[in-house]
Amino acid sequence: MANVAVIGAQWGDEGKGKVVDWLASRAEIVVRFQGGHNAGHTLVVGDKTYKLSLLPSGIVRGKLGVIGNGVVLDPDALLGEIAKVREQGLEVGPHNLRIADTVPLILPLHPALDQARERARGGDKIGTTGRGIGPAYEDKVGRRAIRLCDLAEPETLSAKLDELLLHHNALLTGLGAPLFDKAPLLDKLLALAPLLLPYAEPVWERLDAARKEGRRILFEGAQAVMLDVDHGTYPYVTSSNTVAGNAAAGSGVGPDAIGLVLGIAKAYATRVGSGPFPSELHDAIGERLGERGREFGTVTGRKRRCGWFDAAMVRQAVKLGGVQGLVLTKLDVLDGLEELKICVGYRVDGQEMNRLPPGMKAQAAAEPIYEVMEGWAGSTMGARSYAELPAQAVKYVRRIEELVEAPVMMLSTSPDRDDTIALRDPFAG
Ligand code: GDP
Ligand code: IMO
Ligand code: MG
Repeated sequence: MANVAVIGAQWGDEGKGKVVDWLASRAEIVVRFQGGHNAGHTLVVGDKTYKLSLLPSGIVRGKLGVIGNGVVLDPDALLGEIAKVREQGLEVGPHNLRIADTVPLILPLHPALDQARERARGGDKIGTTGRGIGPAYEDKVGRRAIRLCDLAEPETLSAKLDELLLHHNALLTGLGAPLFDKAPLLDKLLALAPLLLPYAEPVWERLDAARKEGRRILFEGAQAVMLDVDHGTYPYVTSSNTVAGNAAAGSGVGPDAIGLVLGIAKAYATRVGSGPFPSELHDAIGERLGERGREFGTVTGRKRRCGWFDAAMVRQAVKLGGVQGLVLTKLDVLDGLEELKICVGYRVDGQEMNRLPPGMKAQAAAEPIYEVMEGWAGSTMGARSYAELPAQAVKYVRRIEELVEAPVMMLSTSPDRDDTIALRDPFAG
């Protein structure tokens, strides 16, 4: 039985949450494998809107949610989110949420360091979400992280906090930021232990058993390929691997378990935070895309930068991310535009190329090369079949398919769960 992995093919906020929610009706387990509460996934189900950051989107469909070891977990953010969705009538507990016992924790010192660093960078800031994601991954790789399982061993926890504070307080001193005391942190973690440990387990065992029983698993990516720490527009990236390969390492399954890889892309492009964006628009069309697409960050409320669809970049993301099928979202936002542009390559220092160059200076200098297409007069908003789409909209989709070298398997035409066109069943393998 085939599994499916969903990843972002641009700079995030492509509509992964909506797609995962839609696909979750056909799966039994939904797994988050990287990122943390820097993610913001919006699901619209009838008159209810769910904004999820850490909870796997499948939980709204009553499926089992798993937070894998590749995630960085902020306990306060998780408990806050569970309380919030509970108010919306969604019960979340150890019966429908399991968390890898090896997941590294985000502690209050992580956002403090993230924000102090951003302040110190001044005009050169990355534009992070300020939630401590980068510092938490640094501690994981630096072998200093406090992991969920440590909450069950108070002595280990105490010794690890000493080591962690030695490192962090030295950094915070250098940045002129307030330091952290051990006692309140230890008390906080010991108080969290009984709240969090009931969720903890070796999730790899559960996933292995699920595979043997032929149960379908859906892997939910956060962020996107162009924010991948190795393959994205470094250093303007997040601190985890967002490509589909990391679904295996980040949840404790083999690479053969990932199944079909779906890349989600908007029919145009957006980016939050700093960094190169060759097809960015600074004109009335960019404003219009932002307004029609309601392009404000789910996590930070920041206005998203908007631009034309960058096929060269998505083609790159398709290849780097192992994308086998594309889901094109927000086609409706382009309704009514007379003319559409698609970026098909770049001009860098007079030289033409069909991929983003790796260097920071070259990336910043990349000028888009556009192909122009006629827009469509009719509406795609809320369309639920290919037949309802204006001919020119179909032409636009077909052209994107050719340029990015991946078939379009699904289309999304509004925020609502049901306004989705499936051209192929991703679980069919
Ligand atoms: P994610 O981070 O990839 O899950 O995406 P976000 O949820 O952060 O941002 C996508 C936004 O677009 C959300 O507000 C969705 O409700 C909305 N959205 C998703 N698909 C569509 C679509 O096809 N059309 C329109 N107009 N909005 C959509
Ligand atoms: P979803 O899952 C869009 C961006 C931040 C910043 C950079 C690094 O909703 O698509 P970080 O806090 O991760 O260290 O910030 O990455 N970023 C996102 N942009 N969508 C996201 O998640 C993002 N998560 C991080 O804006 O530029
Ligand atoms: Mg988002």
